[in-house]
Amino acid sequence: MGASRGSLTPTTSTYHNASSFEDLLRGIPLPQWAIYTIFVSGGLLILLCLLCICIKCCCKKKQKKKKQKDQLNLKGVNGQTTTTLVQPDVEDVDYGSTKQHRGKLLYSLDYNTTKSELSVGIKQANGLKSVNVGRSGDPYAKVYILPDKSKTFETKVFKNTLNPTFNELFTFQLSKSKLLKSTVVIKVFDFSRFTTHTIIGELRVQLCDINWNHVREEWGDLEEPAKFEEVDFGEICFSLRYVPTTSKLTVVILEAKNLRSMDFGGSSDPYVKVQLALDKTKWKKRKTSVKKKTLNPYFNESFTFNVMFDQIKRVNLVISVWDYDAMTRNDAIGKVFLGCDASGNQLKHWADMLSNPRRPVVQWHNLLSAEQVNSTLGLKKKTPLSNAQLFDKYIK
Ligand SMILES: *[C@@H]1O[C@H](CO)[C@@H](O)[C@H](O)[C@H]1NC(C)=O
Ligand SMILES: *[C@@H]1O[C@H](CO)[C@@H](O)[C@H](O)[C@H]1NC(C)=O
Ligand SMILES: *[C@@H]1O[C@H](CO)[C@@H](O)[C@H](O)[C@H]1NC(C)=O
Repeated sequence: MGASRGSLTPTTSTYHNASSFEDLLRGIPLPQWAIYTIFVSGGLLILLCLLCICIKCCCKKKQKKKKQKDQLNLKGVNGQTTTTLVQPDVEDVDYGSTKQHRGKLLYSLDYNTTKSELSVGIKQANGLKSVNVGRSGDPYAKVYILPDKSKTFETKVFKNTLNPTFNELFTFQLSKSKLLKSTVVIKVFDFSRFTTHTIIGELRVQLCDINWNHVREEWGDLEEPAKFEEVDFGEICFSLRYVPTTSKLTVVILEAKNLRSMDFGGSSDPYVKVQLALDKTKWKKRKTSVKKKTLNPYFNESFTFNVMFDQIKRVNLVISVWDYDAMTRNDAIGKVFLGCDASGNQLKHWADMLSNPRRPVVQWHNLLSAEQVNSTLGLKKKTPLSNAQLFDKYIK
């Protein structure tokens, strides 16, 4: 009994289950067809949903692909726009600024093995780029040898021209072995009395692959200047005034800016030394006060020296900026020298002072390294120029 019961129970239970399901259906106050319709439509709905999800997924993938395609297309379009819109500009920059806009320079190179002397001639420039809107330029050139950079020469400044004829020759002492590892750097600047001089372009000539059997003379295109090896020593502004009748030379140290920082804190405590040398020997020396923790000090300090008219041509004025240090030796931040042996901007300032007696003449100067100024001062010519020669040297 128990066994039959046991075998019956599942069927009964299924039957019971089925009947209870039918009971349940019957319990719903709807006709049976309606209920089946609901079930079928429910299933359809689920199927539809699944289908939708599937389609969405597929669409997403497709969209992704499409997006990628679009991006590719965009890139293509962009590429085209860049080529059509930007490339002429690039060409302008490449072609124009280096070749047309920056200008050309005629230079010469000659090496005398007996004297170990390299002569760099800066002959003329042509079609210099104007860095001032609506104005021509006041160009001058600077030349030095890398990697030593022990001397920097400057040509005179030419007024209001973009085709200056410099015709200056500069000599560098250089052994043959050094020569082959060196590069001549010629930079052309636009002079300005009151602001930093703008560079127009530069020319670099590697000396290793030059045939030194004859003088090399050729035109080179001025290029965009390289920034990397420029060590900036800062700039200084001072005024010079010479009164011949009273033999008074007045130097007003006005201000300096962008000085090289010498302290660990990224600042300096600068002061300025004003020195006069007569016939290469140290003669007179004065100092400004120390300005604390600044790289752009304002001094406005005036120094007056007695310099006879016959001495003024034999005098070198050395202006140097120093970092004051109470603990250790003071360090030179930068230096500049003026006088009849100076060149470029420094000579110009000095000559402007001489040709404008009694009037203060203000000018900014780029500071150079102390070593460089020392070596140039040490190698200066012995015979000072006459006034006539001096004016000849810078006025065109
Ligand atoms: C090099 O300089 C010496 C001494 O001034 C001179 O005699 C010689 O002719 C020069 N050599 C060349 C190739 O110019
Ligand atoms: C600079 O110093 C002079 C003379 O000491 C003075 O007259 C002038 O006002 C000063 N300039 C400035 C801007 O401080
Ligand atoms: C430059 O020369 C001065 C005096 O002639 C000297 O005291 C100084 O040490 C020199 N500086 C450098 C960096 O050679």
